[in-house]
Formats: sequence, structure tokens, C-alpha cells
Amino acid sequence: MYTSFDDTLDKIVRLLKSHQSEFLSGEELSRSLGLSRAAVWKNIKKLQFLGYKITSRQKSGYRLVAKTNLMLPWEISDGLQTETIGRKIYYFNTIDSTQNFALKLASKPHENGSIVISEQQTHGRGRRNRKWFSPRGGIWLSVLLKPNFEISQASLFPMLTSLALAIAIEKVLKLRPKLKWPNDLTLNNKKVAGILVDASIESNQIDYLVIGVGINFKIQPSTISKIVKNSGNFYGITTLVKKKEKADPILLLQSFLHELEQLYSKLVAGNLDGIKNEWEKRSSTIGRKVKISSSPSGEIKGMVIGIDDDGALLISSKGKTQRLLVGDISYQV
Ligand code: BTN
Repeated sequence: MYTSFDDTLDKIVRLLKSHQSEFLSGEELSRSLGLSRAAVWKNIKKLQFLGYKITSRQKSGYRLVAKTNLMLPWEISDGLQTETIGRKIYYFNTIDSTQNFALKLASKPHENGSIVISEQQTHGRGRRNRKWFSPRGGIWLSVLLKPNFEISQASLFPMLTSLALAIAIEKVLKLRPKLKWPNDLTLNNKKVAGILVDASIESNQIDYLVIGVGINFKIQPSTISKIVKNSGNFYGITTLVKKKEKADPILLLQSFLHELEQLYSKLVAGNLDGIKNEWEKRSSTIGRKVKISSSPSGEIKGMVIGIDDDGALLISSKGKTQRLLVGDISYQV
């Protein structure tokens, strides 16, 4: 695990970045870091292993030629415009589930806004106890929040998160994803990202929320589709960035965390209508004929007429309006 705090590697990268047009001597690095020359060399080796291209020249020292493709925590911090969300980052190359790690952090102090990210997950979790296939190339992260809210507002967070991600994708990748209720992001009607929220509640108040975000950033849709085709709610999978395209996941991540923080402060300020409007503008669900196979009241078929203030779906069916707070919908033609 690497973190965005307490890491020598972070300091070395920062020094190298600020001297990119020249060589930085081993002596200067060891003086600035308070490390022996041998320790500096060991850490440079680690950075090279992590994918940084660093040239070393006897007598001149070290120079950074290119940064890594990995989503290392100090790369996410570098240029991040948030105050709370993502200030502490826990990074893994491989983990069972970022969600599980974030749940363990939740009981510790000073972790409000912390994020956990991994290049791949071995036991990624999806909504409704499904497996979430999480190979390299995706962005798999969890955000820990401790909002001072009542339970009734917990269901707004998936909505907030999917909207923040849609806005970030629009800004950074110039794509126009749609929002499929409850909180899927789609491109060409295929799933490109999903959101899962684990909540802990104490006497009517939210104790903490762990918001899990799975983004098919640069994955192979056909391979994943074959694997997950028979799990529930499958309607096709796609990727944000194609194999040969170049795009930096870090820029998308930074933008997403920024948008999430902005929307979160709007919610704290009581501007729910603004958020709902923005969500509805991007929704592919409103005005659609839908089928819900497994609702508490059995199968429902009807027309979606809107979203309630708590994020519930409002469906007009057989002359009545039905509210759906959790579940999967499929579009009818
Ligand atoms: C869905 O079913 O649509 C939600 C998928 C959420 C997946 C993310 S990936 C990061 C985090 N860790 C997990 O194990 N799950 C969430």
C-alpha cells in the first residue's frame, strides 16, 4: 500500500518534478530528504519499478523523463482542487475490495473524505450482492464520508455521486454519459460506471457512508461482457476510453473528486433542487416505459414520471403512482 501522506517516494517525485529540465544530484536529494545516498538510490529504483522513467547519470544525478501510468496517490494529490475529499489517499495495486478497506477505516478518526483506490480488485462488490469484475484499466475507488445528515438523506448520495461523475466525464473526456436510475452511467445505452453505497446508521443519523465507484475507464468490453453476462441486471458494458486512445485517468479522478465536493456542499447548503435538476437533465430514465421484476410488490410495468426528493423513482402504473427506492429497472420498447 502507498499513501498520499508520509511517503518518501512522494517527496522524491515532487523534487524531481520541480527540476525536470535538469539533473538533480544524489547529494542534493539526500540532503533535502535527510536520507543516505544509498537510500536515495533504493527509492529511485522503487520509482522506476512503479513505472517512472528516471535517467541517472554518474556525477550529474537523476532526471525525471516521464511519469508513471499508475494512479499513485501523490499523482492524484498533485493538482487536486478539493479541501476534504481525497486529502488522504490509500492506494493499492491489488486489493480484495476498496469498499472493504474503506469500511475498516471508518471507525478511525480523521478519515472523513479519505479515498481508497486500487488498480484491480479480486473481490469487487456490486449492488445487490453482485460481483463486480474489476480488472486493470478501470478506476475502482471508495470515498469515506461522515455527513451530519439524517438517514432519509442517505439515498441522495448515490445520485450526487453519479451526477458528479457524469459532469467530470463531460468536462475531461468531452463525452455525454446518461444516468440510468438508480445510479448507473451509460454511453450508447451500455453501462460505463456503477455506484454502490454502504451506510452505517446510528439512531436516525448517518454515522458514515462508504461510496464505491466503479468506472470502466479503459477496459475490454467484450471480455468483461462474457464474464458478467449471466449476472443480474446486465444490459451491455462499454469503456470510456478505447484501447488505442490516450487519456489520463488521474485527470478524470481529480475532476470527479472536485465535482463531488462541490455538489456535497450544495447539498449541505440545502440546494437539493439544483442537484435534482442537473440529474434529471442527464437522465435516460425519465419519460421511459420500464419494467421492475423484483420489487417488494412484485413486477411493476409503467412510465417513469420523475424522481422524488429522496431519490426514489416515481412510476405511473395502472392509474397509480408507485415509488421505488431500491431495485433494478429495464427499459421497455
Ligand atoms: C454496481 O453494481 O453498479 C456498483 C458497482 C460498484 C463497484 C465499486 S468498484 C470500487 C468499490 N469497491 C467495490 O468492491 N465495489 C465498488
